[in-house]
Amino acid sequence: MVFNACTITKVQLGGYNMSNFNERAKDWDTESKIERSNAIARSIKNNIKLDENMNILDFGCGTGLLIFPLIEKVGAVHGIDLSPNMLDILKEKGKDYKNLTTELTGIFEITSTFDLIMSSMVMHHIEDITKLAKKLYDSLNPNGVIAIADLMKEDGSFHGSLDGIYFLGFSNDFLEEIFKDAGFKEVKIVENIFIIEKNEKKYPLFLLIGKK
Ligand SMILES: C[S@@+](CC[C@H](N)C(=O)[O-])C[C@H]1O[C@@H](n2cnc3c(N)ncnc32)[C@H](O)[C@@H]1O
Repeated sequence: MVFNACTITKVQLGGYNMSNFNERAKDWDTESKIERSNAIARSIKNNIKLDENMNILDFGCGTGLLIFPLIEKVGAVHGIDLSPNMLDILKEKGKDYKNLTTELTGIFEITSTFDLIMSSMVMHHIEDITKLAKKLYDSLNPNGVIAIADLMKEDGSFHGSLDGIYFLGFSNDFLEEIFKDAGFKEVKIVENIFIIEKNEKKYPLFLLIGKK
């Protein structure tokens, strides 16, 4: 895969570090992460018409922080993650929701199709975004839509360690090119949907919306 050095900085310092997320799962649900997930959910609701017939996939769902603000507006939500501890917490929190299912698996292993595929803060952990964009396109039902929230370009200071981090945020040009090439007929990037404040720095998030 060839990246345009002008539009993206690619950092590869190791593979997916599941033990890291497994260890962090029990302390994952902080007030700031809940606030961030609620802001992402609001942006999804503002940009995509949700209805009770929709089946949604949340990949890299973690403890389900993005699922709970949306689950009552849709038909069914399937949360997948590679970390068993994250999923255990989600299962416990969501045990009263009949329309929530979970699966210990990665996005590239999914075989079902969905009306909406969403994720929050996962894409920068995935090495091959071209492959991801195609997989997402193929995993959507006709007229399906993706809603991916992640960091806008940052200087590398967001993560303490770059183990398992493949991208220092994303530029609009890069995302538009990759997702249009994958077949999405409409690609829109909503900037600044939330600003994470950390160590006296600001890290804005975007929401990428792509329609099949
Ligand atoms: C930064 S956390 C975000 C968790 C949750 N989406 C949130 O916003 O609170 C990234 C999550 O993505 C999961 N993950 C990383 N690569 C994945 C992949 N290829 N397929 C599914 N999940 C993945 C990790 O295990 C981790 O739980």
